Amino acid sequence: MWFLCPPGVYRPQGDTCLLEDALQRELLVAADVLDLGTGSGALALAAAEGGAAQVTAVDASVSAVCTTWFNARINGLRVRVLRGDLTGPVAGHRFDLIMANPPYVPSPRADLPARGRARAWDAGSDGRALLDRVCADAPPLLNPGGVLLLVHSGLCGVERTLGRLRRAGLRTVVTERRYIPFGPVLRGRSAWLEARGLIAPGEEKEELVVIRAERQLDPAMKDRACR
Ligand SMILES: C[S@@+](CC[C@H](N)C(=O)[O-])C[C@H]1O[C@@H](n2cnc3c(N)ncnc32)[C@H](O)[C@@H]1O
Repeated sequence: MWFLCPPGVYRPQGDTCLLEDALQRELLVAADVLDLGTGSGALALAAAEGGAAQVTAVDASVSAVCTTWFNARINGLRVRVLRGDLTGPVAGHRFDLIMANPPYVPSPRADLPARGRARAWDAGSDGRALLDRVCADAPPLLNPGGVLLLVHSGLCGVERTLGRLRRAGLRTVVTERRYIPFGPVLRGRSAWLEARGLIAPGEEKEELVVIRAERQLDPAMKDRACR
């Protein structure tokens, strides 16, 4: 696949690959798919190539939106690319599969960057500013039987994500776990992370997880499907 990723757009990394592995195990044929925070569009393109009926990609960054549009175009893949704040541009739509690799890195600055490269990873002091919004806003957009695939670091609390998604009525399971060495952002923050008790002294790896959260079929639909 031809692929452009200009400076300023999040280059696909370990978290992207982990989510893509999880995506490959889903039934994509005929699915209506949403990629929240699409970056270069790597995951949206993978869904389109995997046979999804329709793929929508959303990002807040103009550069990311243009890159995704271009990457889809040069590969002859159909992806609807929208600029906006998380689920804002798709309010009222329903999807069979939603995937998100949101910013999740705990940051010494509590507010979120409005622009620049750090917008792709900085996520407030506990790393949950975007994650908590995904947990609240994505479940109502799932069709019955629909699936949310969400990747993030163990540093920002896997149990908190699982709890929120369960309270939103989804059945959750952690499908992937992988330890990866700290990248330059975490290395540069390790003293601060240690002082906050988020990592142990000398820790140099973080755990990434993929959470699969499924909206149950309505009991009446389940009954019909079984007959
Ligand atoms: C960690 S990157 C993931 C990019 C891509 N999905 C991947 O896995 O390689 C997070 C992306 O979320 C986007 N983003 C940050 N805040 C956002 C928001 N409020 N609404 C939509 N996208 C946002 C960033 O611009 C960035 O492209």
